[in-house]
Amino acid sequence: MAAAPLPRMLLVVALAVACCLVQLAAGDTNGVFEPCSDARIQRGDGFTFGVVFAGYSSFFSGQTQLSPCDRRLNLASSAQLAVFRPKVDEISLLTVNTTTGFNPASVGGYMVAFAGRKYAARSPPIFVSNSSFTVSSFTLVLEFNKGRLQNLHWKKDGCDACSRKSNFVCLGKQTCAIRTQSCKNQGPVDCSIGIQLAFSGTDKHESVLNSWYEVSNLRQYSLYGLYSNLKDTLSGQFNKFF
Ligand SMILES: *[C@@H]1O[C@H](CO)[C@@H](O)[C@H](O)[C@H]1NC(C)=O
Ligand SMILES: *[C@@H]1O[C@H](CO)[C@@H](O)[C@H](O)[C@H]1NC(C)=O
Repeated sequence: MAAAPLPRMLLVVALAVACCLVQLAAGDTNGVFEPCSDARIQRGDGFTFGVVFAGYSSFFSGQTQLSPCDRRLNLASSAQLAVFRPKVDEISLLTVNTTTGFNPASVGGYMVAFAGRKYAARSPPIFVSNSSFTVSSFTLVLEFNKGRLQNLHWKKDGCDACSRKSNFVCLGKQTCAIRTQSCKNQGPVDCSIGIQLAFSGTDKHESVLNSWYEVSNLRQYSLYGLYSNLKDTLSGQFNKFF
């Protein structure tokens, strides 16, 4: 596959903050800024969603995975929340800085992406970190139908990007992980979380969202390639390995 043009990136650093945007950016017609509310979007709008970090079982009531917006889960006591507002149908790289006090392992080590209330959608919980391993790069697909979020899912990136890299291990033959002892506080690597986003489906005018195709056409290493463009942030750390 030929190299795809580099997508525009949006860098949002969010850690346990409520969304604080008060003004609509140019071209953004979506007035919903709260991740537990329902929005109907068109291409070019901002779209607010949340990522909750907690233990695996915290996302379930019995056998059923509930939306993090559902009070029955009682996440408020232990979980951490990051809220993002990327632009619909642009490939975005979201980051959560884990070098400055937030440790995903200490709140349970898994994360769930979610948005909506009546039309609640949530991703499956995905492993981020425990005392042995830390996964720092993720791809999240947001799937819309006529402008409503239907589904959020994590795409497995595979281990091509980390094969032969000594600080990495391949978990379950599909996820690159760093040894937690190499991560900042204990070691040299900035293990901050990077989430590459892609959009699929249709907006409220039934225009097709196709940033997903761009992401799937990018190579396995795409996320690391994007990182290397984040000058003075992740790049310095990742250059040690890539
Ligand atoms: C850490 O997570 C990995 C991958 O999910 C798992 O194989 C391992 O047993 C866990 N280790 C600890 C100490 O929980
Ligand atoms: C995280 O924050 C530290 C301290 O401010 C900074 O040096 C580092 O570059 C940040 N990492 C990312 C990925 O933003």
